[in-house]
Amino acid sequence: MKNRSARSFLTLLDHSPKSLRAILDLAARIEASPEDFRKPLEWKTVGLLFEKSSTRTRLSFEAGIRQLGGGSLFLGSDIQLARGESIEDTARVMSAYLDMVVIRTFGHDRIESFARAASIPVINGLTDGHHPCQALSDFSYMEKVFGRLAGLTLAFVGDGNNMARSLAEGAALLGVHFILAAPEGYRLPEEEVAALDRLARKSGGSVRVVNDPKEAARGAQVLYTDVWTSMGQEAESALRERAFRGYVVDGSLLSLADPSAIVLHCLPAYRGKEITAEVIDGPRSRVFEQAAARLPLQKAIMMYCMERDRE
Ligand code: CP
Ligand code: NVA
Repeated sequence: MKNRSARSFLTLLDHSPKSLRAILDLAARIEASPEDFRKPLEWKTVGLLFEKSSTRTRLSFEAGIRQLGGGSLFLGSDIQLARGESIEDTARVMSAYLDMVVIRTFGHDRIESFARAASIPVINGLTDGHHPCQALSDFSYMEKVFGRLAGLTLAFVGDGNNMARSLAEGAALLGVHFILAAPEGYRLPEEEVAALDRLARKSGGSVRVVNDPKEAARGAQVLYTDVWTSMGQEAESALRERAFRGYVVDGSLLSLADPSAIVLHCLPAYRGKEITAEVIDGPRSRVFEQAAARLPLQKAIMMYCMERDRE
């Protein structure tokens, strides 16, 4: 039996620093000459099973699959899964027709159940717990801008959510200093932060959580934020707006960062909430270049998973 976590891409922590490095290097090669990678998915069909909305993830995978020579099938809320067919039965059936599947869903346990029952690689296109494709793409973009990852400081201001977790995991594996500034009740769990920080020591990075956004931003090369209310949390939105009131990436916070600092946001963004229009539309913002980096990275992840599946 093949090692399912090796052929799938569910979280960054499932993979070694060496594997992440291989994906980053492959993405850089694909970005430099995409025309050299026209056939890796020839005769392959990739399903995109999305239970939440998506613009960037869906499009970068669909375009990426097509450019690699494969075909994609988008599966939304009109498949039998939405009417109560089990996730395991869906995984077994999809494994018979498809060569790989990208899933966006709610609880992370859902994608784990799918991957356990499937016999094809499963890629996490976002769960409530993780967003590994976005995070690895962000590291590839940071490396492009700064020429290195090791030793960079990435300050994340806002919710200790799926995005924060995947960035913290990537930082721990790739030698980046990650600081989350979040209000109490919205932080990554303390034990998780301690374990990631221990892991980070091996790569020369660190992972920590603070209360004060200014403390996180001071001297950081990357200032990152995400929405206060993630998909699935809409009922908490009024409560969250109150809790995150002081956690805004604005001009004064940016002025504390390193002179070379860039501002990232995985998007979609809400101007006037987690980030001001002045910052996201200003000269230090790289959010659209960041979004563009998803395409070569998605291709590299799919090629990596197909390769591991053949081993
Ligand atoms: N950043 C991101 O994953 O965007 P979408 O929700 O549009 O896919
Ligand atoms: N944290 C956000 C990310 C969207 C790309 C969400 O889960 O909705």
